[in-house]
Amino acid sequence: MSSERSTVIVTGGAGFIGSELVRQLAARGDRVVIVDNLVNGKRENVADCLSPHVTLMVVDIRDIDALMPHLRTARAVYHLACLGVRHSVHSPHENHDVNATATLGLLAACRHADVPRFVYVSSSEVYGGVRWAPTIRWEQMTEDHPAFPCTVYGGSKLAGECYARAYYRTYGYPTVVVRPFNAYGPRSHHEGDSGEVIPKFLLRCLAGRPMVVFGDGTQSRDFTFVTDTAHGILLAGEQPQAVGETINVGSGQEVTINELTQLVTLEVGRPNAEVIHDRPRPGDVPRLVADVSRAKSMLGYEPRVTLSEGLQRLLQWYRDSGVPPEQLLEQEILHNWVSTSGVA
Ligand SMILES: NC(=O)c1ccc[n+]([C@@H]2O[C@H](COP(=O)([O-])OP(=O)(O)OC[C@H]3O[C@@H](n4cnc5c(N)ncnc54)[C@H](O)[C@@H]3O)[C@@H](O)[C@H]2O)c1
Repeated sequence: MSSERSTVIVTGGAGFIGSELVRQLAARGDRVVIVDNLVNGKRENVADCLSPHVTLMVVDIRDIDALMPHLRTARAVYHLACLGVRHSVHSPHENHDVNATATLGLLAACRHADVPRFVYVSSSEVYGGVRWAPTIRWEQMTEDHPAFPCTVYGGSKLAGECYARAYYRTYGYPTVVVRPFNAYGPRSHHEGDSGEVIPKFLLRCLAGRPMVVFGDGTQSRDFTFVTDTAHGILLAGEQPQAVGETINVGSGQEVTINELTQLVTLEVGRPNAEVIHDRPRPGDVPRLVADVSRAKSMLGYEPRVTLSEGLQRLLQWYRDSGVPPEQLLEQEILHNWVSTSGVA
């Protein structure tokens, strides 16, 4: 590898998964440039990693002029920057602009700058939930499962991955598409429209407040600890056989939201914690569970952290932070898909 191509760029690197990926790259001595406009990411997520070898550029991914000099020295771009699923419910146009249009712009710039590898981090939301076919029931979702997104976020992520695949097929540009399933762990979001179910449930349970289930709670997810998610993404940028491929990264375990409430009460040690049901969320996917055979065979990926171990590790992280759960919950928005300003 030429010394001119010495850095790895992580867009969205100050976010939840991106900051873990940055940690794993930095731990093995990679030079990393984090590209993040901090709209949802935080400087404090990466503050302890910053050094002459790991730098943070506070810039929008749509500012290609600012990125170009850095792309010319990069050996890989991991593209994670995006706006989330609840954001897409209240602000669909902006969501599409950042997630789809800006991905196309970044792909064109990376190809122009000859970056040797582009890893597009997509989402299990592109599937839109396990479907029934006339002859087969999809128990786990392989990468060949139909992509039928239910939200503008899922649609915009699918557009981004289609563009990444098109750059490989049309121009021979080396891209890889990774589809993570629901990640959780330290630095996950409980706040605002980024808030996710596991941090919200844990904090509510710790604070003695009810866990709020949207719908009947039979909807299921594949919850993956963030160190496993980030490791799968990292491997996708390394293995030559991954180029041109689309690869699930998950735990392979399906857990319903009702089961999750029980696990959380067990791990927090509050068996009588209250659970209440609220109206379903618009566009909520009924089932998501990953078949990770391709990640295992192609990347050497192996999910290592069980859900109960992961919940304990996240609990410990909250305790170590010293910030009371009640204080963190002040940033929670319960119905966080509802617009406070824009019109959908
Ligand atoms: N968290 C999950 O469970 C999950 C599951 C599947 C896929 N993913 C994918 O993983 C990636 C990371 O997700 P996350 O959960 O860490 O989200 P996150 O919001 O924590 O990280 C995204 C980062 O992108 C940054 N960003 C947003 N718009 C930007 C812009 N215009 N320019 C520069 N930076 C911008 C944000 O500030 C944030 O730091 C995303 O691509 C997401 O689709 C996440």
